[in-house]
This record gives sequence, structure tokens and C-alpha cells, in this order.
Amino acid sequence: MSQSIIVVYSSKSGFTKKYAEWIAKELNCEVLENKKLTLENIKGYHTIICGGGLYAGGIAGVNLIKKNYEALKDKNLIVFATGATPPRKDDIDKVWEHNFSMEQREHIKCFYMRGGFDYSKLNRGNKILMSLMKKKLEKDAKEKGTSAEDDVTGMLMAFDKPADFTDKKNIEELIQCVRNFG
Ligand SMILES: Cc1cc2nc3c(=O)[nH]c(=O)nc-3n(C[C@H](O)[C@H](O)[C@H](O)COP(=O)(O)O)c2cc1C
Repeated sequence: MSQSIIVVYSSKSGFTKKYAEWIAKELNCEVLENKKLTLENIKGYHTIICGGGLYAGGIAGVNLIKKNYEALKDKNLIVFATGATPPRKDDIDKVWEHNFSMEQREHIKCFYMRGGFDYSKLNRGNKILMSLMKKKLEKDAKEKGTSAEDDVTGMLMAFDKPADFTDKKNIEELIQCVRNFG
């Protein structure tokens, strides 16, 4: 492949990192953690792939692309988000709408890859947030009643036992998209 490609990722509990490393290996390109990266670190690449976990609907680290969009809009831009929720089109479309302007959505290729949930790997702040969410989920489940298959039950179970839905197959569409750039 003649183009220069970089993968940057933000990952609090490791799910996005795993996908980022799979993608970089498949494309034989550089991968960097998106901690203190600036426009200077990425502007030399033709294709920029930015991944981040979903946190209350926001994509971690995506500001690197959004903040520098004017300087980057002539590049091939790809964003991938990982989350605990199953990949339902309506829910995922809302994520892109929430995170990007209409112009950005037309230009940036977006992919969702299911990550997982690991309570033990969260920092203190996120543990507190998730404990509050757990209480709410338990209350809702008690009021409405839930079945073993639904999302609420799945989410509650994940507090006791880490859930990992990562699957290398989920990178295929993104890889194909990059290959189509030529
Ligand atoms: C505080 C908090 C908020 C979250 N919000 C969402 C969310 O809005 N949608 C979703 O699908 N997953 C959500 N999750 C689950 C994470 O997105 C999921 O664990 C993701 O794979 C984390 O990726 P990372 O480990 O690479 O950061 C949330 C997790 C935490 C701790």
C-alpha cells in the first residue's frame, strides 16, 4: 500500500487498544496512544484512523480529529468507536449524530466495534459513575421486570464478571474501507 497510515487510540480498559493493534497489524502501519497527541503528530499521514471507547455516548479522544478538522479534511479520516452495547443501527447512528457535525459525518468514515465491560479496570471516577448506573439499572429491572436476554440483565451481569465481546472479524469492514482508498 503506497499511502501512509496511522492508527491512534484512546482506551481506558483495553478494548479499543486491542482493536487498534489488530488494525495496525493488518495494515502494517504505526499505532500510537492518543494521550498527548496534537495535529503535528498526525498531519503527515494520508489516512488517519482514530479509535476510542464510548463514554456516555461520547467517543474518547475524538477531539483530536474534531478540533483539527479544518486542517485534516483533505485526508482520509476514519473513526471507530467501541462500546458495551450491541451494534444496533439506530443506536449507532445516534452516536455519530451526537459526536459529529453533518459536514464531518459526510467526510469521516465511522465504524462501531463492540468492546466489552470490565469494572475492575475502571478508575475511581468511572467506578463511582458505574455504581450509580448499576443502582438505576437494578431499580428499572425491579420495576419493569427483565428477561435473561435483554441488555439490562447483560449489563448487570458484567459488573460481577468481565464481558469481552471483541472479535477480530469486526475490523474487516474498516480494513476494506482503507484498502478502497488505494
Ligand atoms: C462511565 C462509562 C460510560 C459508558 N458509556 C457507554 C455508552 O454510552 N455506550 C456504550 O456502548 N458503552 C458505554 N460504556 C462501555 C464502554 O464504552 C466499553 O467498555 C468500551 O469497550 C471501553 O473501551 P476502552 O476500554 O477502550 O476505553 C461506558 C463505560 C463506562 C465506564
